[in-house]
Amino acid sequence: MTFRYAIQTFGCQMNVHDTDRMAGVLRAAGGIAVEAVEQADLVVLNTCSVRERAEQKLRSEVGKLAPLKRARPDMVIAVAGCVAQQEGESLLKRMRHIDLVIGPDNIAELPALALEQWGGSPPVARTEFDTAAPRFLTWAPREGQEAPVVAFVTTMKGCDERCSFCIVPYTRGPERYRPAREVVNEVSRFVQAGSREVLLLGQTVDSFRDPALPPADPEDGLDGSQFPELLRLIAREIPRYRRQPSRAPGLARLRYTSPHPRHATASLARAHAELDVLAGHVHLPVQSGSDRVLRRMIRRYTRSEYLARVDRLKCSRPNLTVSTDIIVGFPGETEDDFEETLSLVREVAFVSLYAFKYSPRPHTPALRLGDDVPEAVKSERLARLFEVADVLSQKHLSGLVGTRQHVLVEGASKSEKGDLSRGRVQGRTERSEIVHIQAPGAAALVGEVVEVDITRANKHSLLAVPTEPIDSLPAPRPKLDGARRLPLW
Ligand code: 5AD
Repeated sequence: MTFRYAIQTFGCQMNVHDTDRMAGVLRAAGGIAVEAVEQADLVVLNTCSVRERAEQKLRSEVGKLAPLKRARPDMVIAVAGCVAQQEGESLLKRMRHIDLVIGPDNIAELPALALEQWGGSPPVARTEFDTAAPRFLTWAPREGQEAPVVAFVTTMKGCDERCSFCIVPYTRGPERYRPAREVVNEVSRFVQAGSREVLLLGQTVDSFRDPALPPADPEDGLDGSQFPELLRLIAREIPRYRRQPSRAPGLARLRYTSPHPRHATASLARAHAELDVLAGHVHLPVQSGSDRVLRRMIRRYTRSEYLARVDRLKCSRPNLTVSTDIIVGFPGETEDDFEETLSLVREVAFVSLYAFKYSPRPHTPALRLGDDVPEAVKSERLARLFEVADVLSQKHLSGLVGTRQHVLVEGASKSEKGDLSRGRVQGRTERSEIVHIQAPGAAALVGEVVEVDITRANKHSLLAVPTEPIDSLPAPRPKLDGARRLPLW
């Protein structure tokens, strides 16, 4: 049997990755992807609950689907992701148009559950963690399928941190690691199929362990994480990208997100010094610059420890850049605490940052602390923080004008909505700055590392022209991929 499905994705890269895996199991079961929900027999809303209004957002999305469902009662509405895991069966009672609730660890069951729905079964929720026997769904190339230029590979899931503001341990369960061998095999499969960059994914990606890897470096004291060993293994086993003489398979860049500063060890810094396949940029969430707030957030590092870790990373690799996540208005955050955050931002000179107003989340320890920073103060702090951050990122980007960079071209620029024919493509430098290249025939650059001259800095990206004529390049790979949506974090 065949059926049509549409998946709407909200939230983080892990959700984008889960969407890819849901698409994989649905296709294997006879599903055909459609863009328009009007045409879909199955609509999956892949939700995020890390910050506020998750449920209202879901309610409004389900509300939009309700008329379609009334017209076609056999249309199945499924809710996946963190809101599904968090609310479980109760969602079925509260939003009567929902037929299926499916947690992140139950993705493999999605096709069978959808089939049961079309067979007339009552609505059902499936949200069990696979703690006893963790499963990691693998990407398998299909005949004629394009490999994404940037491939997402999961290394671990869940989180054992207990940051007091964060709902993730509740929605994603305890940490489970994928065997390093499996990670390497998946990286290899992507690269053989034409992917050029791999983004390793995990909620605390650097807490990775696998007994099959060499033990952690004793210099790192009690930190037993083996993430640097995983990076070394990938660098050793996966062939590197070379543009000449042919467009043969090869890995150009290896990135990872998001590390917890606690595991940003000396060994990780050394890996950055040794492995030139690693991107020269690290996203290292700090959350606050005040020790008092960090303690109440249960981040388990101090301001000076964070600064020392950033320094160590920066020393490992010339020009390494750092970005971060920050929460403003955490319970009890005073003006002085917030000033400490501003001073830390200036001191590190983050090239970009994502900042959020604190929002109380169900099941989190910080609920006990109240939510005592008034909304107006949160807004004002957020605006001040962005002011400082914008100056830093402008300074960084405009400093790159006139330099020569190597850009891995991912696809058509976002403004062109996937249309490669307009000669405007986008990609990233070794340090992950977004670069738009405008040149006739630029479509031929997709999937290649191209030398460019940076001509202009925009607010969040750069403009560039290739240093050599495009028609001097070898013929395009037979399978080309369009731009892949890269979410904020
Ligand atoms: N309120 C505001 N921001 C939050 N984040 C996580 N939980 C909350 C919360 N309760 C932010 C953190 C994290 C990012 C993914 O979302 O900055 O790093």
